[in-house]
Amino acid sequence: MRSIPHHVGVVMDGNGRWATRRGLPRTEGHGAGEKALVDTAYGALALGVRALTVYAFSTENWRRPVDEVRYLMNFNRGLLERRQHELHTEGVRITFSGRRDWRVPRGVLSRMDEAAELTRHNKVMTLNIAFNYGGRAEIVDAVKRLIEEGVSATKVDEKAIRERLYHPELPDPDLVVRTSGEFRTSNFLLWEMAYSELVFTDVLWPDFRREDLYAAIAQYQQRERRFGGVDS
Ligand code: IPE
Ligand code: IPE
Ligand code: MG
Repeated sequence: MRSIPHHVGVVMDGNGRWATRRGLPRTEGHGAGEKALVDTAYGALALGVRALTVYAFSTENWRRPVDEVRYLMNFNRGLLERRQHELHTEGVRITFSGRRDWRVPRGVLSRMDEAAELTRHNKVMTLNIAFNYGGRAEIVDAVKRLIEEGVSATKVDEKAIRERLYHPELPDPDLVVRTSGEFRTSNFLLWEMAYSELVFTDVLWPDFRREDLYAAIAQYQQRERRFGGVDS
């Protein structure tokens, strides 16, 4: 039980391939990812992880076929409807990182607001859903805020930018897991991941369960974090 990461990030990837391998449409893979997400969240809760950020829809995912984008929008809205109450009962605070731009249907935004409002005082764990999220967009948005607030160049430092990210109250992720055997970040938490430990697994997201999270954390516990310094 030593050194449980405070904040874990997960790039939930491989839904399409999971479905294709079964001769199903890609969207079936997204649907099957719900069980993986819920089981992983419960696993994180059981270990005492304080924050779990999951990548649900990227600023680049708009490039997908319109039917798949539409499915993902409806699916994420439905997921909140189906799961927010049980997560609330467990003391989970649901938050979102990402842009609220015109492309996100209003019905999805209002569900997001409802889930955030329902759970805002919960303290056990934060489930932060990265939705219409891009790491570059997040940094751009922080810079825009600096300019809008009239912050002078001499006052711009890492702290000033960090404070203007989507969720400055969350610590940087200690561990980031990516499923489906891809070795890239795909624009996830660029600023926050500077010193995260990375774990890659071949498991496709719909097959991922809390045991896979535990295995990733066991790998994390073998790592020696130095943050640019030398071993103590
Ligand atoms: C991840 O699975 C889910 C989202 C990006 C929304 P994919 O849909 O990317 O699945 P693959 O990578 O094509 O298998
Ligand atoms: C990253 O997966 C985004 C999410 C998991 C939501 P992608 O499937 O979009 O990433 P690429 O395109 O393979 O880099
Ligand atoms: Mg993918």
